[in-house]
Amino acid sequence: MIIARTLSDLRDVVNAWRGEDFSHAVVPTMGALHEGHLMLVAAAREKTDRVIATIFVNPKQFAANEDLSRYPRDEEGDLAKLEAAGCDLAYLPAPDEIYPPGFVTSISLGGPAKAGLEDKFRPHFFDGVATVVAKLFIHTAADVAIFGEKDYQQLLVVTQMARDLDLGVEVVGIPTIREEDGLAKSSRNRYLSKHERHQATAIIRALEQAAEKIRGGGDPQTATKAAARSLTTLGFEVDYVSARNAETLAVPVSADEPLRLLAAARLGKTRLIDNIPV
Ligand code: PAJ
Repeated sequence: MIIARTLSDLRDVVNAWRGEDFSHAVVPTMGALHEGHLMLVAAAREKTDRVIATIFVNPKQFAANEDLSRYPRDEEGDLAKLEAAGCDLAYLPAPDEIYPPGFVTSISLGGPAKAGLEDKFRPHFFDGVATVVAKLFIHTAADVAIFGEKDYQQLLVVTQMARDLDLGVEVVGIPTIREEDGLAKSSRNRYLSKHERHQATAIIRALEQAAEKIRGGGDPQTATKAAARSLTTLGFEVDYVSARNAETLAVPVSADEPLRLLAAARLGKTRLIDNIPV
């Protein structure tokens, strides 16, 4: 596996691939890799001839009070996992490579980025994600980009941005990889105490119960409100549990729209998010 830390080194490899007519995919990550990330690499391998994984803990998507400084980092472990997963190139740019001194540009987002979900509780978040993802798309010049449904709103925001700005990359979403008990795999799960780890499965259970009620003809609003109440009773601080149009994240207006149930809740100091289709 090739390791590139500068745009210029990355471009040399990508140009050589282009010369051989190889297509390539990018899997953007912030490192601390787990099986969920590695499934994205596996999916990328199915789609293109060559695979780039990027590791960059993006300061622009963390607010001052968030966990940037304590975000887990394990470069050596990550590189070993990527190589074993069949990744061809790991791109690990330094912060200055992405945000050189004097960098001031950002991308103005609408649609799914303003759905009133993550954007309401982390107002800076999607601006930071869009800026870094746009730069990673441009740096890698990838044909395909693989994202997890785990971060469903992010997947829709990035898809919309790539389409609106003609970034020339096909964005593909991959279903969430879960622990045996249903908890969505996440780099942040390691922050949970043993007791919290046990409680954390309540999120997926609450979402599944709500989906079941809706499939049985129940009102989505009533079902998601009941899910939020049950999580609050169990000691979660709930940011939202919401039923939305699966393609736009708009609040549904008719009974036959495709629905996605999305939730975010804090357990102690850890914020967990999850979502499922109905
Ligand atoms: P990160 O949280 O590292 O996630 C990188 C990618 O892995 C995202 O597309 C995310 O949805 C996916 N992912 C995480 N957990 C998953 C799981 N359990 N199953 C399937 N996919 C999973 O998301 C980010 O980084 C950043 O915002 C980034 C896009 C890299 C921009 O900085």
